[in-house]
Amino acid sequence: MKILGIETSCDETAAAIIEGGKSDNKVTLLSNAISSSLVLHSQTGGIIPEIAAREQVKFIIPVIEKALKDTDIKTVDAIAVTVGPGLIGSLLVGVETAKTLAYVFNKPIIPVNHLFGHIYANFISEKSEIRNPKSEIKFPAIALIVSGGHTDLVLMKRHGKTKWLGGTRDDAAGEAFDKIGRLLGLPYPGGPAIERAATLGNPKRFNFPKPLIDSNDFDFSFSGLKTAVFREILKLRENNNGKLTQKDIQDISACLQKTIIDILIYKTLKAAKKYKVKSILLGGGVAANQKLKEELIFNTKYQIPNTEIFIPQKFLCTDNGAMIAAAGVFYFKEVQWQKITADPELYFD
Ligand code: KG4
Ligand code: ZN
Repeated sequence: MKILGIETSCDETAAAIIEGGKSDNKVTLLSNAISSSLVLHSQTGGIIPEIAAREQVKFIIPVIEKALKDTDIKTVDAIAVTVGPGLIGSLLVGVETAKTLAYVFNKPIIPVNHLFGHIYANFISEKSEIRNPKSEIKFPAIALIVSGGHTDLVLMKRHGKTKWLGGTRDDAAGEAFDKIGRLLGLPYPGGPAIERAATLGNPKRFNFPKPLIDSNDFDFSFSGLKTAVFREILKLRENNNGKLTQKDIQDISACLQKTIIDILIYKTLKAAKKYKVKSILLGGGVAANQKLKEELIFNTKYQIPNTEIFIPQKFLCTDNGAMIAAAGVFYFKEVQWQKITADPELYFD
């Protein structure tokens, strides 16, 4: 089965073609096209929904055409599209385009939850950054989704049988990187900028709080951390004529990155142990963070050596059409195009 995946939930306009069947437990990436309005958003320090949607209207057809042209296939068997969660204007661009294509070319349409898309990026197996390239994702599995809008821990008993274990009560992990990046005067998005600055910083200089680390659940909270970092920034500025030094920025970045990673890994491994999972799957833009990957692999090996880690390639961690097409393979359920609607608040079932 060949599936065209369309993703427009935030600032990317993305389309990709995936080939595979549910029984193979993996899918193959045939093409992957993307157009990002990130440059426009970095000028304003964040996403302006209206601008994002206008850009997506311009690029959606060329991006889909590119995804098709980059393969030697003439047609696909179905169209998978992100229906939520996300920005309503952006979602509508993808959803209405998918519905039109499904109607005109008489193709089945598969509505996909963006959060499942991040999980299913891990099933694009030959492209995965897995510890052992021969290994296969086995259930039960824990998925940690860490993006700009979400931080969720999900237990997967099998395809289609999932249980949400917990998530953020306030800011998402990526949001914390983005907001603190702005406080530090770094470019948007904050995650990659903080990762770069952190490579030269001292991760032991500041001791930031780890909210909810000892809570009896699998919830996260990052807004208190943001406040603590803000207070530290004010103190440093006061001592230096209102300015942060390069060293301050690097040290705060290193300490913040370490704190967020420690929290994410602690809760993920706690869930993995409790549910005795065979696999841990990472997904979402923050999964592109090299230190997070290294620490997760190291700690898992040390604490639960029989559990396998799966991490998508960097370009499949941030939003893309391939993950939507991949989820479409495993959640193939034909829905009449008239019944597909965008749902910005869509969450886990
Ligand atoms: O999954 P994604 O592309 O979009 C959403 O669904 O939100 O995630 C974007 C988020 C942003 O908050 C960005 O700062 C963060 O992922 N991010 C990173 C890195 N690359 C992207 N955070 C930490 N380290 C990175 N290398
Ligand atoms: Zn995302």
